[in-house]
Amino acid sequence: MTPQPKTIFACAKCDAQFSKWSGRCSACGAWSTLKEQMADNKKPGAAAIKFDLGQLQDFSTVTQDKISRQRTNLNELDQVLGGGVVPGSLILLGGEPGIGKSTLALQIFRAFETFNRPTLYISGEESAGQVKLRADRLNFTPKQMKFLGETQCEKIIAAITALNPSLAIIDSIQTIHSAEVEGEAGNINQIRAVTVKLLETAKTLGVPIILTGHVTKDGVVAGPKTLEHLVDVVLYLEGDKYHGYRMLRAVKNRFGSTNEVGVFSMTDKGLQEVANASKIFLGENLQNLSGSVVSCLIEGSRAFLLEVQALVSMTPFGYPQRKTAGYDINRLQMLAAVITKRAKINLSNQDIHLNIVGGIKTKDPALDLAVVAAIISSYRNLTLPKDTIILGEVGLGGEVRPVFNLEKRLKEAQKLGFTKAIIPRMKNLKVEGLDVQAIETIANLPLIS
Ligand code: TYD
Ligand code: MG
Repeated sequence: MTPQPKTIFACAKCDAQFSKWSGRCSACGAWSTLKEQMADNKKPGAAAIKFDLGQLQDFSTVTQDKISRQRTNLNELDQVLGGGVVPGSLILLGGEPGIGKSTLALQIFRAFETFNRPTLYISGEESAGQVKLRADRLNFTPKQMKFLGETQCEKIIAAITALNPSLAIIDSIQTIHSAEVEGEAGNINQIRAVTVKLLETAKTLGVPIILTGHVTKDGVVAGPKTLEHLVDVVLYLEGDKYHGYRMLRAVKNRFGSTNEVGVFSMTDKGLQEVANASKIFLGENLQNLSGSVVSCLIEGSRAFLLEVQALVSMTPFGYPQRKTAGYDINRLQMLAAVITKRAKINLSNQDIHLNIVGGIKTKDPALDLAVVAAIISSYRNLTLPKDTIILGEVGLGGEVRPVFNLEKRLKEAQKLGFTKAIIPRMKNLKVEGLDVQAIETIANLPLIS
């Protein structure tokens, strides 16, 4: 009797594995993410292997690999990649549909035009004509680029091997399937198998391959977690569709740090680099309104200023509302409770709306004090002195705690013409040319006394 093939159920979000299907993953709590797949059938009793010690490499004789990188002429991207595209690397470019992945990919191709070697654009979701339309918008007339509209992985690999391009892109990984694996394109088994094969191809030929991958808001559908283990570099393009900016973040990078973000703005000529990010988030005409406070955010190694706005108004009936855009709702609840208790301002009959202007989403605790100041400023209908930046983490006791990279944030504020700062008390802080007010608790905010 042949044994039944064993199947297991793996969560597309966290990759936890179960023997039975259920509607909800008990490991991460996500709904309808369990997908059936074949269990690894281990063959019993592999013959005992004799190991030849000569196969071991003496580590003291190992020299560092030289990594040559191809710059893409998009400085923001090169910075995120750690200096450029590494030959033979497999790069995953993820993001929500419509965020600009294909656009960015095409802009990378432009940089590779300078080689006298062909490049290969493989699309499983768009025709050559559609890609041409996008290239025209970017004012880009490729000379070296070849196009292949194909979804079968084995054919794609054959094409890459035959052409040996200087760069290949596959748009998108969800549309590609392997003939050797069961299931339709886009399921976890397929994605995993296809990625492993492409990784092998990239490594053996030394061709950099970029895979684009669709990710939904909570990152479920595409099973990107499974992919992250396999590829060399994981980049996510994020942003708000209704605002022009896009942020490129490295989540994993075998050839560089993951501490970098690139900032772009989506224009009618594709993605343009933004050197001075504070300018887009802060806007030009900052008015002195109650409930509006400027603070500074650190993303990767960059600092940029942004505006925090609060609107506090009497609850018309029933339960007070707390609404946020771009900010953690639980953090707002906590800060509101701290204000009520420690600054003796009763917010229990007040609705609070909080907005991080510009569509940016953040969890940086350094913004706490700015949020507190914005709420109090709106509640009291008082404005803060113009050109003031507010920074500080707020604890449950209402105490204002130090924030990391404070000097960098203050420098950014100075660069943009800010002259006053309200910050936590910190030892050895050196700032020149800024009127600094160091406070210990939120009760010391100038809006309260
Ligand atoms: P696209 O790169 O197709 O997104 P993705 O591959 O991530 O699904 O493009 C996304 C959006 O960008 C699309 O709605 C059109 C817009 N866009 C511009 O605003 N300017 C441009 O120059 C281009 C090429 C696209
Ligand atoms: Mg696309």
